[in-house]
Amino acid sequence: MQNIIEIENHHTSGLYTKQNFAIVRGQGASLWDSDGNEYIDCSSGHGVANLGHAHPKVAEAVYKQASTLITLFETFPNDQRAALMEKLTALTPGLERVFFCNSGTESVEAAIKFARLSTGRRGIVAAMRGFHGRTMGALSATWNKKYREAFEPLVPDYSHVAYNNIEALEKAVNDQTAAVLLEPVQGEGGVYPADPSYMESVRELCDRTGALLIMDEVQTGFGRTGMMFAYQHYGITPDMLCVAKSLAGGVPMGAVLMGEAIKNLAPGLHGSTFGGNPLSCAAANAALGVMLDENLPRQSLVKGAYFRDRIRELNLPIVRDVRGIGLMIGIELKKKVAPYIKALQERNIIALNAGLTTIRLLPPLVITYEQLDQVIDTLAEVLAMELVAE
Ligand SMILES: Cc1ncc(COP(=O)(O)O)c(C=O)c1O
Repeated sequence: MQNIIEIENHHTSGLYTKQNFAIVRGQGASLWDSDGNEYIDCSSGHGVANLGHAHPKVAEAVYKQASTLITLFETFPNDQRAALMEKLTALTPGLERVFFCNSGTESVEAAIKFARLSTGRRGIVAAMRGFHGRTMGALSATWNKKYREAFEPLVPDYSHVAYNNIEALEKAVNDQTAAVLLEPVQGEGGVYPADPSYMESVRELCDRTGALLIMDEVQTGFGRTGMMFAYQHYGITPDMLCVAKSLAGGVPMGAVLMGEAIKNLAPGLHGSTFGGNPLSCAAANAALGVMLDENLPRQSLVKGAYFRDRIRELNLPIVRDVRGIGLMIGIELKKKVAPYIKALQERNIIALNAGLTTIRLLPPLVITYEQLDQVIDTLAEVLAMELVAE
């Protein structure tokens, strides 16, 4: 283990805070380090492993496709890509066309470009606390200045308004607004779900003003919140849907799904070398099959409700709020979370933060009740401790 860590520390870009153990294997919601210690993964690789790690159906599809055809530019039609286009759009009535890319930020980047192309307008209105990625266009929509400041000047004509506040949005949207870009549940920003009445009003405002509605479901997609996509909780349809993370069962892939309002997308105006490659498409076909066969959205809904109820019942004095939908869970503390996340990790539970005071849990949707109970018991133990940030 020491050797792995030393090599990485020596060669690291410096952009990541490295842990002091190396993970070498995963199965379902479990991860193992190089010394054979088991962890319960409540991070899913930042919301990727909705199906759990090393799902056999994804592994088999990847192996089969890798020995058939790995790469193919999207100008050439392909059996796996065509199958995926059909499967994916069948899940999103009203969004019939797809652009494939390789990550979340690329899907947001593309959606912003498509919004400007479709409307001939430039303005992008996003939300305070929003996170949309780190390439320049997506970063310009991201709120937290810790991600933005070092890279200014960013792309012009972006603005940010308070989330869940329709009056603020009404003031910001005008006849120069190309799109409103929102997460249906703000993830990085602290696990804040949109109010149902807000979402309905946002859709109505966009219809009234000709601005397009882009829903960033990079983190909330594919069952994470108890529906295949979180916007489906709200009875609205966005003009564009950005997805990535768990789309291909852990293999890198992103996509933008588009409705009828998206136009002027002519050959060459945008594209991606790896986008829609047969290997990622085969993995995604297998992953979507598992999500439907195992009804992962339903599992997420039921397990998430169970988890939140049990945490609330503990009545822990340190807990300010328990939020979220499905297995997208935020536990806001009255104190900084860093030492608590460290204490969880020392007890073999891997968790994330969202901002300074919220523990964010994004476990694989296949996590067992036994594992959930172990996480709850460990949280009860750790959150009863008096820990201070270093
Ligand atoms: C809502 C949202 N949008 C975009 C991104 C960026 O995705 P990626 O890291 O794949 O570029 C993330 C990543 O966490 C996200 O949560």
